[in-house]
Amino acid sequence: MSGGVFVPGKVILAGEHAVVYGKMALSASINKGVRARVVKRGVKNEVVRKAIEVAGGEPQIEVEIESELPVGSGLGSSAAVAAATIGAVRAHLNRPIDKDELFELTMECERIAHGNPSGIDPATVVYGGLIAFTKGQPFERLKIRKPIKLLLIETGKPSESTKEMVEMVASKTDKDAIINEIGKLTERVRGKLVKGEEIGEDLDQNGRLLEELGVVSEKAKSLSDELRRMGGKVKITGAGGVKTGSGMMMVAGRDLLKIKAWLDNRQIRNFEITVGTE
Ligand code: PMV
Repeated sequence: MSGGVFVPGKVILAGEHAVVYGKMALSASINKGVRARVVKRGVKNEVVRKAIEVAGGEPQIEVEIESELPVGSGLGSSAAVAAATIGAVRAHLNRPIDKDELFELTMECERIAHGNPSGIDPATVVYGGLIAFTKGQPFERLKIRKPIKLLLIETGKPSESTKEMVEMVASKTDKDAIINEIGKLTERVRGKLVKGEEIGEDLDQNGRLLEELGVVSEKAKSLSDELRRMGGKVKITGAGGVKTGSGMMMVAGRDLLKIKAWLDNRQIRNFEITVGTE
């Protein structure tokens, strides 16, 4: 689809699960997203259209949506669809919308989808770049100094919901030390991103801590081990999953081309993304 309004998806770079316990999480926009365009259908006659307009009715419109984001995989698909649709409709109505209003309206749509959303998804997809988020505090918008190339691997749709994964972590008696580690690590990653420094090692450490926390399936863990042997820095992104899939896994490092070829060979679905572009 050409034209229309494009809104990016997002990945959580660091801090998922720990954010539930008041630690910082870092989320960033990616160069894949959703495009929405208003298409006029059903109203063929100018006079009929005018009649609807003078009557104060909404023009009869439909929105065409094209998405590069798998649904329900933690890439912010629902927030991006809402924001792109709102943007397209407002452009169609000739009523430009600024980012603050777009954020508020996208939040309204997210409340339908998620009940009580934290706001990290709408904030990341609407403002772009890097968002530092701590529960109960206004989110902070930061710039990533140097865009980061990552591979995203589909480890399979989790059988558990985000809520179930959060509850599973809550029931873990030895979680506090891991949560504190993730919290410290996320603060460190924040500093490095702003300065344009390498974060591969930290992402990998965050990935290992999430494995320790028990939110990664055995299958995804053995895939992580293989990727690490090839030099990859590996972390799941989002809530994770243990019974079947663990959702999306990110891989950083210097050998992404080699790793991509290895995955393609085994028909493990993956795609390259750039993080932090607006
Ligand atoms: O899978 P996502 O992108 O919706 O992320 C979930 C993040 C958690 O920290 C696991 C839950 C939350 O509400 O913050």
